[in-house]
Amino acid sequence: MNQNSSVRILFLGDIVGKPGRALILSQLPEIRERFHLDLILANGENAASDKGSGITAAIAHELHAAGILAITLGNHTWGQKEFLNEIDSVPFVCRPANFAASAPGASWVELPFCGKRLGVACFLGQASMRILTDSSPFRAASELLEQHPEIDSWIFDFHAETTAEKIAMGWHLNGRVLAVMGTNTHVQSNDAQVLDGGTAYMTDLGMCGPHRSIIGHKIEARLPSFLQSLPPRAEVASEDVQLRGCLIEADPINLKAQSAKAFRWPLPE
Ligand SMILES: [Fe+2]
Repeated sequence: MNQNSSVRILFLGDIVGKPGRALILSQLPEIRERFHLDLILANGENAASDKGSGITAAIAHELHAAGILAITLGNHTWGQKEFLNEIDSVPFVCRPANFAASAPGASWVELPFCGKRLGVACFLGQASMRILTDSSPFRAASELLEQHPEIDSWIFDFHAETTAEKIAMGWHLNGRVLAVMGTNTHVQSNDAQVLDGGTAYMTDLGMCGPHRSIIGHKIEARLPSFLQSLPPRAEVASEDVQLRGCLIEADPINLKAQSAKAFRWPLPE
């Protein structure tokens, strides 16, 4: 907690492959100290993208040990087939809450925070996502709130492709949760804000990974799919590795957001 009694939360965008993980592991201690962080969260659904996509339990443990207390996922949740059998061994990781209830893994994570109970969950959008969810993310979000009145507040990751669907989710949850953070596009949006009900909102956090790339992949591996109608090759790029996310200040008494700002590391000049 900093001097003016705000708490500070950093939510990092999609961690892409080994370059993203390595920068997080090396820089998080300095970032935590410099920004007086009380809580760090991240979307990890591309953390194993050196192997294609998804995440593994070993990688999740590595990120958790580095200080990321809850990890959210998305459409690449099952990118690593073995993760189907591993997800129940990493209770600090949640798969989209609007997957079928029978799907393996936790649909939300509870964290102690400021002497209160904070819930963290993610939802998968339906527009242009090419994956079938079990229910509307809007309905699933409302149901999660209704089913857990014991939870004091929530931070939600909305993993979705289109801006309108994400903005709609922000207004749907305005005043009902601490934050709605968009992920999935890997491109940071310029609209971090606190909605009038005290909900921090950002359409997309951006990615933690190589920025001289096409959303994290080598340019020479992805460009041919657009030029020559060839299948895309998912090869993680390596240059210009940076972190992106959202820095939120909140009131520790009522868990309402006070400010939300785009986070970039290294710091912009
Ligand atoms: Fe995604």
